[in-house]
Amino acid sequence: MSALAGRAVWVIGASSGIGAALAAELVVRGARVAISARRADQLKDVADDQMFAVPLDVTDRIAVDAAAKEVAGLIGAPDLVVFSAGVWEQLDAAAWDRDLFARHIEVNLLGLNNVLGAVLPPMLERGRGGFVGVSSVAGYRGLAGAEAYGATKAAQINLLEALRIAVAGRGVDVVTVCPGFVKTELTAGNSFPMPFIIEADQAARAICDGLERGRAEIVFPLPMAVLMKIARLLPVRLWATAMQRVSRPTAR
Ligand SMILES: NC(=O)c1ccc[n+]([C@@H]2O[C@H](COP(=O)([O-])OP(=O)(O)OC[C@H]3O[C@@H](n4cnc5c(N)ncnc54)[C@H](OP(=O)(O)O)[C@@H]3O)[C@@H](O)[C@H]2O)c1
Repeated sequence: MSALAGRAVWVIGASSGIGAALAAELVVRGARVAISARRADQLKDVADDQMFAVPLDVTDRIAVDAAAKEVAGLIGAPDLVVFSAGVWEQLDAAAWDRDLFARHIEVNLLGLNNVLGAVLPPMLERGRGGFVGVSSVAGYRGLAGAEAYGATKAAQINLLEALRIAVAGRGVDVVTVCPGFVKTELTAGNSFPMPFIIEADQAARAICDGLERGRAEIVFPLPMAVLMKIARLLPVRLWATAMQRVSRPTAR
């Protein structure tokens, strides 16, 4: 039997993409699932009478607190909360768009802050629970065009790592998920090459497998994980030169 069977899981950012596929896979593995995002109709379709749909906007702190209470009433205090809400837009550094940058911070980072504020204190009080943050391998190194997105993803990785240490020994586990390219609405508009791209259901299985194995960090697919882990070790100038070569034909 799956270690996820019977667990109460709240997936935030589950109206499409990785979050939606993950919610479906969690149901298959026997979890009790509640899902959230802004698009209520789409959430209802994903829920398909097998999950509870609780619409929310992660940038709205009051809505997040209210949704956390509603979810606890529907599935019980969540054993796991997954933050998969996120936005990605390519930034043109030559025409710096402050609003685009702020949108990334508001959803990817301040949204995470809003959710942590709602779910972490009760988990610590119970001395039980897990928090799963979906970041990205894009947070490992700077990528041209991803100045806004990558900054939030690097911040998420750092935040989750710090949090794992801060709550150690108090019954609460923190898991960092770093996907490579996954076919979703988020990547649908990308015109640049996306090596090793996988389907959302493959991503969902990789995340569930990692959770079942008690991993602190889940990075996939394997070739991208290896590539980006090695990339992390490269000196700054070498990385910049290599990436200039790779990105020149598609940049801006
Ligand atoms: N696809 C990839 O290649 C890839 C790679 C690495 C990491 N990731 C990360 O994986 C996560 C999921 O992305 P995805 O690829 O599955 O993209 P997606 O299909 O666009 O899903 C993004 C989800 O976030 C939700 N969301 C966005 N803004 C929100 C807000 N203000 N409040 C609540 N929910 C919000 C969206 O729902 P609503 O619009 O209905 O609110 C949607 O459910 C993101 O954090 C992304 O950075 C993706």
